Amino acid sequence: VCCVAGARVDVCAEPLQRNVLLCVQAADLTIQLSAERLKSAPAAPKSFGTVFTDHMLTIEWTEAEGWGAPRIQPFRNLSVHPACTSLHYSIQLFEGLKAYSGEDKRLRLFRPMLNMKRMSKSAQRVCLPTFDESELLECIRRLVELEQDWAFLSESSSHLYIRPTFISTEATLGLKKPTSALLYVIVCLVGSYFSSTSEGLSLWADPKYTRAAKGGNGDCKLGGNYGGSLAAQAEAQRFGCQQVLWLYGDDQQITEAGTMNVFLYWINEDGVEELATPPLDGIILPGVTRQSILDITRKWGEFAVSERYLTMDQLCSALEQRRVKEMFGSGTACMICHLSHIVYKGEKLSLPSLDGDSLLSTRITKEVEDIQFNNEHISWKLGRS
Ligand SMILES: Cc1ncc(COP(=O)(O)O)c(C=O)c1O
Repeated sequence: VCCVAGARVDVCAEPLQRNVLLCVQAADLTIQLSAERLKSAPAAPKSFGTVFTDHMLTIEWTEAEGWGAPRIQPFRNLSVHPACTSLHYSIQLFEGLKAYSGEDKRLRLFRPMLNMKRMSKSAQRVCLPTFDESELLECIRRLVELEQDWAFLSESSSHLYIRPTFISTEATLGLKKPTSALLYVIVCLVGSYFSSTSEGLSLWADPKYTRAAKGGNGDCKLGGNYGGSLAAQAEAQRFGCQQVLWLYGDDQQITEAGTMNVFLYWINEDGVEELATPPLDGIILPGVTRQSILDITRKWGEFAVSERYLTMDQLCSALEQRRVKEMFGSGTACMICHLSHIVYKGEKLSLPSLDGDSLLSTRITKEVEDIQFNNEHISWKLGRS
């Protein structure tokens, strides 16, 4: 057992909200190494999220005691009460980010504070306690540092996927604000997320399903948002499509594509060249990749970049008038994914498929990859011990 000692500070200098009296303290982190540490190259994961590393980070919280000391321990199953409110009422949330390996064989986390901030917002939505975001990030960095060799053992997995998770452990069937909770972080190898994306992703759009509603939880990363999307996803597959294009409202606004934010690069109704994505009005998950694409393309200053509503009628007219240049989805899993067609009202709407190199999505991908894999200023490099 290797212990990292540090002074315990029980009161946050700047509490994030009233219930954050005792903070997550990275200085209190202890590390218990697994006896079964990685010895040989793991098999390439056949599907996303199936091969996990040797350790996990856990931090317990109770209303009475506040945050406990963070612990890195051997990966293990959890034991929770069968009445635990995270299982019954989905009082839980998660995050997803990757550690990318650069040419110098070091790992980098890409804008991880955006994930910490989103996690904190999700926690507030289900009355789980908030935490010191920087301190949690430092604990995650230590976990990834410990597990970094996993990223270099196999040709097929040059980066790691990190899954922070926060669950209520309250043992009651009463629906109430939790008084105990567990925050844990696990790490897995990254294989292919979508089965085939080289041709672009196919989408199925039907207004009978809605992913999120105004005033709801669509802008938070709560597990219930995802379980509840599976029936629509299964129906999309029956129509021969890979993902759902989520629509909203009577005017059938385009919101998200599967678990990705969506972008339309087109000549808009006013004849202006524009890259557009729906605004963060409560039904859109504020994607880290989405924000990065907006930042990068705004910096280019070559065309209008807008957060605006887009409807199916507008898309159909633009397709008829050949004003659509490209459509793509964005997210940590696939980064940027070209969209090939949309099945809508029984018709197949083909989206332009240009030569890969001339796609805007290819150009943006190159720039984002440069940041993720090489640029030291924006990414946050992990050292090799
Ligand atoms: C519903 C939804 N939209 C968009 C995204 C993309 O977000 P990010 O770019 O942070 O991965 C995700 C993935 O987290 C998602 O689950």
